[in-house]
Amino acid sequence: MPTGPASSEPPAYETREPSAGGIGKIYMGREIAQVMGHRGISWLERDTRESEESPTSAIDSLQLPPQAVIADIGAGSGYYTFRLAPLVPQGEVVAVDIQPEMIAHLEARATDEDVDNVRPHRGTIESIQLEPESIDAAIMVDAYHEFSHPAEMMSSIVEALRPGGRVFLLEYRAEDDAVPIKRLHKMSEAQARKEMEAAGLQFVANHDFLPWQHFLVFAKPAG
Ligand SMILES: C[S@@+](CC[C@H](N)C(=O)[O-])C[C@H]1O[C@@H](n2cnc3c(N)ncnc32)[C@H](O)[C@@H]1O
Repeated sequence: MPTGPASSEPPAYETREPSAGGIGKIYMGREIAQVMGHRGISWLERDTRESEESPTSAIDSLQLPPQAVIADIGAGSGYYTFRLAPLVPQGEVVAVDIQPEMIAHLEARATDEDVDNVRPHRGTIESIQLEPESIDAAIMVDAYHEFSHPAEMMSSIVEALRPGGRVFLLEYRAEDDAVPIKRLHKMSEAQARKEMEAAGLQFVANHDFLPWQHFLVFAKPAG
């Protein structure tokens, strides 16, 4: 049984012949998906996303204090990042991505839209590269399933969270065949809970109001 970073064992990955859209690397029974390249920016910004994902209601439910620091991990084009920024006028959205083209896009967008509380930040495939206990919350939207080193990434996220900090994980529902998304780009609630709990996070809730996605909430233990 593979283990996550909360265990004393190093994370265990298995390999097999990659399936369509996958990298052939298995974590806790789940094949990791290929990274979506920066040429997918227009897809991320598609007009149909509000009706498919209802980001407005997802963001409304976060109830972040105005001074909160939230990391949008796997921020991509900043579809969520720039919708989150008005919620934390005295805080900050740290927009983490591994692709330099995404970081350049985020920087240009912050300048164009005159937004001063978005900080584009380049991470690595294994770490978000933020200081310990420096963020109040982390959000990952349609991104975690493609992290090539999920155990190491979650370890770095948990370390960067302040005690009691929240992780919001939005992933397309694997249990629902009607959600028209490729299999490796979906996750079941059971799989997500297994992986987040292996990282030492506590399950808080799975909101069911989004059309296509799970909206899972986890917390770093308070002390
Ligand atoms: C499908 S896009 C989703 C973007 C955005 N969250 C959204 O919903 O529009 C996934 C993003 O995750 C990024 N990514 C993949 N692995 C990552 C990692 N280890 N750390 C940070 N970002 C990563 C990719 O570069 C890509 O921009």
